[in-house]
Amino acid sequence: MIPFSPPRMDQQIVEEVGKVLLSGWITTGPRTKEFEKRLASYIGCRKVICLNSATAGMELVLRWFGVKEGDEVIIPAYTYCSTANVVMHCGATPVMVDIDEKDFNISVANIKKAITSKTKAIIPVDISGFPCDYEEINELVASKEIKSLFSPHSDEQATLGRILVMADAAHSIGASYQGKINGSVTDVAVFSFHAVKNLTTAEGGAVCLNLPERFDVDEVYRLLNVKSLHGQSKDALAKAKAGGGNWRYDVVEPGYKCNMMDIQAAIGLVELGRYESNLNRRREIFAIYNQAFENEDLIIQPTFKSDKKESSYHLYMIRVKNATEAQRDEIINRIFEQQVSVNVHFQPLPLLTAYKSRGFKMADYPMAFSKYQNEITLPVYFNLTDDNLNTITNAVINAVNSVMC
Ligand SMILES: Cc1ncc(COP(=O)(O)O)c(C=O)c1O
Repeated sequence: MIPFSPPRMDQQIVEEVGKVLLSGWITTGPRTKEFEKRLASYIGCRKVICLNSATAGMELVLRWFGVKEGDEVIIPAYTYCSTANVVMHCGATPVMVDIDEKDFNISVANIKKAITSKTKAIIPVDISGFPCDYEEINELVASKEIKSLFSPHSDEQATLGRILVMADAAHSIGASYQGKINGSVTDVAVFSFHAVKNLTTAEGGAVCLNLPERFDVDEVYRLLNVKSLHGQSKDALAKAKAGGGNWRYDVVEPGYKCNMMDIQAAIGLVELGRYESNLNRRREIFAIYNQAFENEDLIIQPTFKSDKKESSYHLYMIRVKNATEAQRDEIINRIFEQQVSVNVHFQPLPLLTAYKSRGFKMADYPMAFSKYQNEITLPVYFNLTDDNLNTITNAVINAVNSVMC
């Protein structure tokens, strides 16, 4: 069976993790700090903090910004549950909007319609690694009309003076937007290093801070660190340093526990060091898929490049022309029968109990449903061989034709 997305674990990773395990320091420490610095320089953003997941990163940022009950946060209906859950954890209301026709990403026109005086943040999601329309979103939140609606109730909100744009960039490390690396084009962008992502630390995430100059990002970094470690005024490394009195610390708020360990950062440093080669192979795989499906009228290829943007080549999401949900599911069964694993990204949130039971209705998001019902995601990873790709494309073409013709 060709797996869907196995992690690229090899001797280099084993050695680097081994070194950390034997170093005497395995939790947040020098490796994590090094990984943060290297990420900030790769992305070209002001500061990066690494945590144990993208979910934790998004929630900490919303809490830092003071998002709470009575506030609204705009998100796409077409995303992973994490995007909505972090808003709900803060007690705020996720306002779901439909996606655009041209790709799987949030529609800027729909964002505009959904903004109210309660809107505190927008979380666009770079589905499959293809960046959202950030220039348009940034212009929208900075416009006089939208700024005049904004009513701040925290110091951070007053300092920003407008809606916060936090990209859910879980899929899009290495993507580019107008020549810049994605992650540096919104106030905040949050990457995921979960096991199936382009760049993994087994579990993990990074918050890229790109807030306007009037924010002291070193101070924001410090505050997020405190929140990530129970609200402790010092982390374990600072407490362990020699010198009388270093053991004493304060707890300044009831914080969370979501720091990244040096064991994870050691994996991340290897992954980041070889990331360009990883991206190049992903680019090749997309090209091979495109070529194989070029003359297949029933297979709609994904958008991964435009004049402004280039994907991180995270997910190759095809759609089967005119397929119903049941036909798509049958195609998937037949692909699996040919020893190939595929997946579906995503079930729009209004299909899922947690959101359905809170009143979200699939019928309100027709574009999300029409994209979901015939979507199939094919394997993309560095170690996929050309032989594997041949098997996959044959399996997909056979399955599509056998169900649809
Ligand atoms: C779009 C999206 N957002 C957020 C996340 C959450 O990432 P993590 O598992 O690192 O919290 C994921 C994870 O798959 C995702 O696909």
